[in-house]
Amino acid sequence: MTNNYLNSPLSVGNKTVEKRLVLAPMTQLGHIAFRELVSTFGGYGLLFTEMCSAKRIPNENREISPYFKWRDEELSRLVCQIAGPAPEIMANAARRIEAEGFFGVDINFGCSVASICNQNWGAALLKNPELAAGIVAEVRKAVSIPVFVKFRTGWKDDPCPAVDLAKRFEDAGADALTFHPRVAPDRRSRPPRWEYIRMVSESVSIPVFGNGNVFCYNDCQDMLQQTGCDGVAIGRMAIARPWLFAEWTGSLAPGPDIYLDTAIRMTELLLKHYNPERAIRRFRKFAPYFSANFRFGHTLCSQLMNAKNMKSVRNVLYDFFEKAPDLASKPNMNFFI
Ligand SMILES: Cc1cc2nc3c(=O)[nH]c(=O)nc-3n(C[C@H](O)[C@H](O)[C@H](O)COP(=O)(O)O)c2cc1C
Repeated sequence: MTNNYLNSPLSVGNKTVEKRLVLAPMTQLGHIAFRELVSTFGGYGLLFTEMCSAKRIPNENREISPYFKWRDEELSRLVCQIAGPAPEIMANAARRIEAEGFFGVDINFGCSVASICNQNWGAALLKNPELAAGIVAEVRKAVSIPVFVKFRTGWKDDPCPAVDLAKRFEDAGADALTFHPRVAPDRRSRPPRWEYIRMVSESVSIPVFGNGNVFCYNDCQDMLQQTGCDGVAIGRMAIARPWLFAEWTGSLAPGPDIYLDTAIRMTELLLKHYNPERAIRRFRKFAPYFSANFRFGHTLCSQLMNAKNMKSVRNVLYDFFEKAPDLASKPNMNFFI
């Protein structure tokens, strides 16, 4: 049932998304190399980029930028996420994103790290619903590609402001919402309140992607059933198992080799897209999530984090996989930052 549902198309604005599982935007994790890795497995409807600064996008050079960087082949299913403080800045960024041929643009009202909120970007804007809706309206006016909004519960544990915001975003012209039902200062320490996803979904007629703590197929099924959301955005678990979109939509039955093969492929793709220094730094962001899959993941993780270059990373991986490692019955969430 879920499998069929996940494979059913969804209209978002003037376009169609072929599958209802999407990769959530993640800074330092959802980069071009990781997305190429995910695309080798398939099974997703959309991929979201890392958050990009709206101020920089109009003049950003995709050959140099580590964030505003893509493969042309992925554009038809790629949404660029932007963050910024003011309607006109966001609209200018959206114009470039449309001109480059992205599927859509996603407005970040979810990031609650201090460096972003202090500049009045991200979740800080949830404190100012009029300005947040004004940003959505200005971006809507600027482009005809689908406009997504990603947001959180807000700054206190009360679903009413989130429901109000959802309606404002819809009225301002958003085509789809991704809702992560956590309060903004909570960096994933408490479970998200999925019941709020239902309230948000029921309050708007545009599609809502539910997000937060979906770690296995059953979680995905539960989220869809409990919340009535139209699709599911997967974050951290997709880093641990980049093939999960294909697995959960039924096109792949992963064999035991998939772990080593995927990690090695990750090293290759990082070196394809980045210089060796940035490649290794980005591998270190991936390593804890990947290590969470194994019973002795701590050892693997610390060895991967200490490796000085990709050659050493590969040696660590080959050593670890020499004797088939024990998989954890479910990934060890202590690794998930
Ligand atoms: C390392 C990291 C970076 C993230 N960066 C972003 C971001 O740039 N933009 C955004 O909207 N959300 C960001 N998020 C939040 C995720 O998109 C998602 O909402 C969150 O991880 C909950 O989903 P999950 O339980 O499936 O991981 C980030 C999360 C993590 C762990």
